Amino acid sequence: MKLLAPERRIILKNIETPNLHQLSVYQAAGGYQTARKAVAMNPDAIIEEVKKSGIRGRGGAGFPTGSKWGFVPFKTGKPIYLLCNADESEPGCFKDRLLLERNPHQLIEGIIIASFAVRSLKSYIYIRGEYATAAKVVQKAIDEAYGQGFLGKNVMGSTHTIDVVLHRGAGAYICGEETGLISSLEGKKGYPRLKPPFPAVSGFLNCPTVVNNVETLSTVPWILANGGEAYATYGTEQSRGTRLFCVSGWVNRPGVYEEELGCTLRDMIDGHAGGMKEGAKLKAVIPGGSSTPPLTPEEVDKATLDFETMAKFGTFLGAGGIIVIPDHFPLLKLLERLTEFYWDESCGQCTPCREGTGWLYKMMKAIEHGKGTAQDVANLQKTANQMMGVTICALSDAAAMPVLGFLKKFPNEFKSAREHT
Ligand SMILES: Cc1cc2nc3c(=O)[nH]c(=O)nc-3n(C[C@H](O)[C@H](O)[C@H](O)COP(=O)(O)O)c2cc1C
Ligand code: SF4
Repeated sequence: MKLLAPERRIILKNIETPNLHQLSVYQAAGGYQTARKAVAMNPDAIIEEVKKSGIRGRGGAGFPTGSKWGFVPFKTGKPIYLLCNADESEPGCFKDRLLLERNPHQLIEGIIIASFAVRSLKSYIYIRGEYATAAKVVQKAIDEAYGQGFLGKNVMGSTHTIDVVLHRGAGAYICGEETGLISSLEGKKGYPRLKPPFPAVSGFLNCPTVVNNVETLSTVPWILANGGEAYATYGTEQSRGTRLFCVSGWVNRPGVYEEELGCTLRDMIDGHAGGMKEGAKLKAVIPGGSSTPPLTPEEVDKATLDFETMAKFGTFLGAGGIIVIPDHFPLLKLLERLTEFYWDESCGQCTPCREGTGWLYKMMKAIEHGKGTAQDVANLQKTANQMMGVTICALSDAAAMPVLGFLKKFPNEFKSAREHT
């Protein structure tokens, strides 16, 4: 097993401190001091600091956080909302759960700072319905923060009001898509909406709204405490800082690891995750959660974990879900299961997604069960291509991309179907 330097921990720095979820323990580790500093600052200076850090959203799309905050129109007279996206439902991703269950005050501190920066008086944490334990822990932390005057009116003795409400979802993956989340929070079906208008301009209740992922917001206290420039010294030119990687699949030590962006995928698998279980050979890696196209073993050997390198290999960092697939695992079975997942989770508003996800699943099922034909493989490719970039939200692309990726990079898996007429 390869030995590697310890993880580069910024947001996981204190994660192993017993009872960190309790306010007193979080405060003993210096917690809430940065929020106290923030509420005495000029909000624009906070946005500037976050811009300097270069941090890009950790929810999947990788949009620069400072720019997102800077787009909010502050003078419309409408209330501004900050929504924390804790819906985490992409197969392969489980980092937000760790942050919610083990360090909820770090997130609340990030929410206080972000709310103050974007002039939001009210914030919602939209948490995945299945995260029952996390919901309890976070609610308790919110109550503790209110009890100390860190939330509510006159936050930390300032003139600012910041309210935080925890809202539990009901088990739909699509409610993690930011406009689906907004619809759901408004009490409607979790239907995504066409963009523009972007939520920053017209989101929750048609008001300016910032949607940020749990990890993004949990990083904000460190950035403000240490400065944007300090954060930007980690990572690469276009991928600043550290991020959490969820490593699952056929490895000795599956788990959540924090590393500098730009670290090698091999170090993540062979170092932090302890290498392949039982000395198995590697067949493929899904690098960013189930919607991201796979990497071949040759690509894995060359890949570094950053936005730019993943793009070179035709894939994405997504939400950091690294799924390690061993040689003995049937790839077609995996793909069949993934297509079923996306079919089940499509909200049905757009024809290419509603129909396409169903067809992808049907064809993959036939192929996996040895009943597929060359025509099925051709139709799989055609259908997936027709689902890209033509729908209200990116779920359609998310369903099509792994199919196209496996077809391109693992053509031999489809060989027997191709030989069937
Ligand atoms: C189908 C779909 C599901 C998504 N699920 C999540 C999710 O569970 N959590 C999340 O933070 N972002 C999710 N996103 C991304 C959000 O739409 C949005 O980009 C993100 O919450 C913005 O936060 P960030 O800028 O901090 O990354 C999803 C996107 C799509 C298209
Ligand atoms: S792409 Fe799919 S999930 Fe997204 S809005 Fe359209 S039908 Fe719904």
